[in-house]
Amino acid sequence: RHGMRVLGIETSCDETAAAVVERQPDGSGRILANVVLSQLEEHAAFGGVVPEIAARAHVEALDRLIAQAMAEAGCGFAGLDGIAATAGPGLIGGLLVGLMTGKAIAAAAGKPLVAVNHLEAHALTARLTDAVAFPYLVLLVTGGHTQIVAVEALGRYRCWGTTIDDAVGEAFDKVAKMLGLGWPGGPAVERQAAEGDPDRFAFPRPLAGRPGCDFSFSGLKTAVRIEAQRLQPLDDRDVADICAGFQAAVVETLADRTAAALHRFRAGYGPHPTLVVAGGVAANQAVRARLVELAGRHDARLFAPPLALCGDNAAMVAWAGAERLAAGLADGMDTPARARWPL
Ligand code: KG4
Ligand code: ZN
Repeated sequence: RHGMRVLGIETSCDETAAAVVERQPDGSGRILANVVLSQLEEHAAFGGVVPEIAARAHVEALDRLIAQAMAEAGCGFAGLDGIAATAGPGLIGGLLVGLMTGKAIAAAAGKPLVAVNHLEAHALTARLTDAVAFPYLVLLVTGGHTQIVAVEALGRYRCWGTTIDDAVGEAFDKVAKMLGLGWPGGPAVERQAAEGDPDRFAFPRPLAGRPGCDFSFSGLKTAVRIEAQRLQPLDDRDVADICAGFQAAVVETLADRTAAALHRFRAGYGPHPTLVVAGGVAANQAVRARLVELAGRHDARLFAPPLALCGDNAAMVAWAGAERLAAGLADGMDTPARARWPL
């Protein structure tokens, strides 16, 4: 007899995704299928995600992706123990597409539905990939969110820090746009930064050294804009050096805020913290390298999910659903999609 099998559906932003995971009674997890279709081309010409285009693209792709995930998992809907769909936070049109599809399958197959919080799914991913035990600290860095969360237990999340203006991925995207590097900006800025001199420009490290774990990136973004305007026209060297300086400032800011959180975590939960990094920006190698160093210095264990599970995906949604079902939690068919839904 196999473990608990859950279909996951993710449509909160610009990736359409479906996955099947299996959770064993001992709490370990396994991915049976994980398919993601990115809408990069649909949105690239607009320099960002266009909500109406995203929702329509989800409608067109989702049924096929679910069929593909089910075929790869090798079980029919009848072989599932539940259906999990992201219900928020995110773009409401896309959320409705995924959640309604999840409800339809759940109703037709007579299976329980779990309406998943996308941020919770990011925060729980390390339990799927590395069986990380509670409590642990999560640095969640995406295009829409920048948070430090103490994960005490399933459903018990303490948000210790958040951004007071831009999200970190958003800052990468805006800097890329200023420099004409296209969209999405994170990977392009990282590539440029690898060729640049991080010390040519002294960009600010917002909130570094201040008490607490909050973030701010808009001042850094403005400093980059001023420098870029001053240097017009930019040559290749300028672009690479600006990216390197910007990325170094981001990395130091994330490290400073995370260090403050590690101190607080140790004081509250004991001497050897577990640190998890999650979200699209966790794919950045400079960020990962700095966190490895930081964890070493703070006697913490660092878990960084594989790149495919850092960005948006449905395996994390299926897993969050499996964890909730295993705890006896499920949601009614009247559960709404929520554009805003804090952890
Ligand atoms: O988690 P995610 O895929 O979607 C959201 O929930 O937002 O994160 C996407 C964000 C984008 O802002 C993207 O530019 C950024 O993650 N990103 C990166 C890298 N890869 C993706 N930022 C920095 N370096 C990267 N290598
Ligand atoms: Zn995300």
